[in-house]
Amino acid sequence: MALLEVKNLKVHFEIEDGWVKAVDGVSFTINSGETMGLVGESGCGKTTVAYAITQLLPTNGYIKGGKIFFKGRDLLKLSMRPDGRLDDYNEKIREIRWTEISMIFQGAMNAFNPVFKVGDQIIEAITLHKDVSDDEARERVKELFEFVGITPDRIDNYPHEFSGGMKQRAMIALALALNPSFVIADEPTTALDVITQDRILAEMLRLQEQLKMAMMIITHDVSVVAEVSDKIGVMYAGLMMEVGETTQVFKNTAHPYTAGLLGSFPSIKGKKKRLISIPGFPPDLVKPPSGCPFHPRCQYARQACQEGRPKGVEVELGHISYCHYAKELWDELRRRE
Ligand SMILES: Nc1ncnc2c1ncn2[C@@H]1O[C@H](COP(=O)(O)OP(=O)(O)O)[C@@H](O)[C@H]1O
Ligand SMILES: [Mg+2]
Repeated sequence: MALLEVKNLKVHFEIEDGWVKAVDGVSFTINSGETMGLVGESGCGKTTVAYAITQLLPTNGYIKGGKIFFKGRDLLKLSMRPDGRLDDYNEKIREIRWTEISMIFQGAMNAFNPVFKVGDQIIEAITLHKDVSDDEARERVKELFEFVGITPDRIDNYPHEFSGGMKQRAMIALALALNPSFVIADEPTTALDVITQDRILAEMLRLQEQLKMAMMIITHDVSVVAEVSDKIGVMYAGLMMEVGETTQVFKNTAHPYTAGLLGSFPSIKGKKKRLISIPGFPPDLVKPPSGCPFHPRCQYARQACQEGRPKGVEVELGHISYCHYAKELWDELRRRE
């Protein structure tokens, strides 16, 4: 059984001009112990997917369809109100959040309250959810610090005494504090310099393997997930474009958007490729294009692409492309090799 199964999830935001279709039918699964990278340009709906799973949507966010199963439990059923909004104070969800599913937030560098010691803030998170004494929690925080590579004697430091990389490590310690089986890391390294980025990623991978937890790493930077993910989901304009094992998506790319995205990053093997960008801009999600939302920017687009939304085509086992011409593209790209 999959640990997490997201099925045709739709999340829209109500704004003055109408509805932002931030997530408009996204499906994927993550198994126990697996790491999935969720990638796509800024604004394509990645964080919204994460907030739907952790049930921390802003108040103008509505679930417009779909299901989220975690360990077989229908999460939305627990907390969804009749109008599609989520009750984030729902007790059952609060039991699951942090203890079973935790999240490292985008911009986590500022997640700690500047007036309290970092250690105390993690201790509080532990004692809030677990029946342990402050001393026991303090020991746990020291363990966690050691685990993520912060010397335990830093436990009584204030956030401003930590470097960016240390704050990020402390945030990871916070996310791990209650031994969750699933951690979502939203742009965990975006604010860091490249060297610290590599170190933190390596650290996360080590922890993930050691703790056998599942992880979803969200990033706009494909090179971040190339090395650390078992599988990859590529999103564009609120939809999944392609999903599969990392090697499948990188080697046997079967969606024009993914091909463009990979082409616009330096080669992961170290050889510098020319940076090609995809012409045009992502669409306005209030009025997304008809059919496949990528068609206005797609060099392969034909009539059908303006008409119907593509269904998933399984081009090889476990590798799905949401392109009308997935099979043709597959043949074409393989021919070029
Ligand atoms: N609370 C909100 N109200 C209205 N629009 C929102 C809200 N939150 C996010 N959006 C919009 O939803 C889309 C998806 O945003 P997001 O999930 O943050 O994307 P990503 O994480 O991929 O950058 C964007 O167009 C964004 O502007
Ligand atoms: Mg985001």
